[in-house]
Amino acid sequence: MDKMKIIGGDRLRGTIKVSGAKNSAVALIPAAILADSPVTIEGLPDISDVHILGSLIEEIGGSFSFDGKEAVIDPTNMVSMPLPNGKVKKLRASYYLMGAMLGRFKKAVVGLPGGCHLGPRPIDQHIKGFEALGATVTNEQGAIYLRAEELRGARIFLDVVSVGATINIMLAAVRAKGRTIIENAAKEPEIIDVATLLSNMGAKIKGAGTDVIRIDGVEKLSGCRHAIIPDRIEAGTYMIAAAATNSEVVVDNVIPQHVESLTAKLREMGVRVETGEDQILVCGTDVLKAVDVKTLVYPGFPTDLQQPFTALLTKANGTSVVTDTIYSARFKHVDELRRMNANVKVEGRSAIVTGPVKLQGAKVKASDLRAGAALVIAGLMAEGVTEITGVEHIDRGYSNLVEKLSDIGATIWREKMTDEEIEQVKNA
Ligand code: EPU
Repeated sequence: MDKMKIIGGDRLRGTIKVSGAKNSAVALIPAAILADSPVTIEGLPDISDVHILGSLIEEIGGSFSFDGKEAVIDPTNMVSMPLPNGKVKKLRASYYLMGAMLGRFKKAVVGLPGGCHLGPRPIDQHIKGFEALGATVTNEQGAIYLRAEELRGARIFLDVVSVGATINIMLAAVRAKGRTIIENAAKEPEIIDVATLLSNMGAKIKGAGTDVIRIDGVEKLSGCRHAIIPDRIEAGTYMIAAAATNSEVVVDNVIPQHVESLTAKLREMGVRVETGEDQILVCGTDVLKAVDVKTLVYPGFPTDLQQPFTALLTKANGTSVVTDTIYSARFKHVDELRRMNANVKVEGRSAIVTGPVKLQGAKVKASDLRAGAALVIAGLMAEGVTEITGVEHIDRGYSNLVEKLSDIGATIWREKMTDEEIEQVKNA
């Protein structure tokens, strides 16, 4: 187990390249199950969620070869093996194995997913969708059992706008008989990316990226080659890091439209942001204005950037209110930021940040992926040394974070934790 150390105060300069989107990757890999020949995905991020999904693909008889950039998934010899808890509990997106296996085999047994603890994260809308398509769904001892004689297209109105439910229903519906219509669908770019892969495999999908998606089921899907979209949350994290350290950084391999809500907020704070075709230049400033932020579904401000953005706001002049309308308890980073001298408190679904303060290096713990990103940003801003444990959360979603930040001038490195330190963190 590693910990991360940062000596804050460096100004960053140069170009940082964004990897493929984690939240696409974790759906594209299961989507390959639906094909009858190998699927190649270019630009997959080298993160632990991808490796875990790869090994789950192998557990059900598929092959997964990944060189850190490109993966080939061969679904030819797959069977619908039960995947109870174990590895599926390590990530949220293992729920996509339900939709994909149901679509291909008409049956699946998959343990309830794990992932970051951000408040209640039910999957009732996924199940509602599978049932509408004709599946019987039961929950037995922490695993979801799905079975259908046949899947038939249906009209499904999502009660909650859900990225996961939209993709999962799409995965099951592409091989159902007849037409499925998903209404009140999520519109995140990752949904378009998954629909593009499925379409390249032979699926008939219209409307991905809008709130009504129409899918006409087909009998057969075949392998293809697909290039993943860049990770808008990773891009946003580095944009925030540049603003937080008063630096001049080019974020490369980004679709500027995907991060417009962040760009607008940074500009409101006084940061200069210039967008090109697939690059964004962020030039920090000494004096930042406080702003209010409310997370919303796409294209609103993403909940996944709420925690990193809160770290930046500690430096802004005045009081900022950050409200998370998507998750009720995505504030575990706040106590850690306070350890670093931040003036932040949580009231209901909002974090109230008063600044500016000079953060001080401290020993802190990442409780989840984006809390980890927030602490890295805080560490870059702080005076002295910040030591972050819980690095395995960061590894779930950021490919080569230490190397990428070091390359643009940050003093950041990893160290192995001693047995005593591991024990202390476990007992904390
Ligand atoms: N919800 C329900 N019922 C459902 C599904 C969702 O009530 O059946 C609720 C959730 O509890 C939440 C809201 O709807 O309050 C939105 O959840 P959504 O289903 O959209 O989230 P998700 O698909 O589980 C994905 C990302 C998250 C990201 C959210 C929101 C993946 C693997 N995860 O989760 O990413 O926060 O969408 O944009 O795609 C992250 O990357 O750090 C991360 C947590």
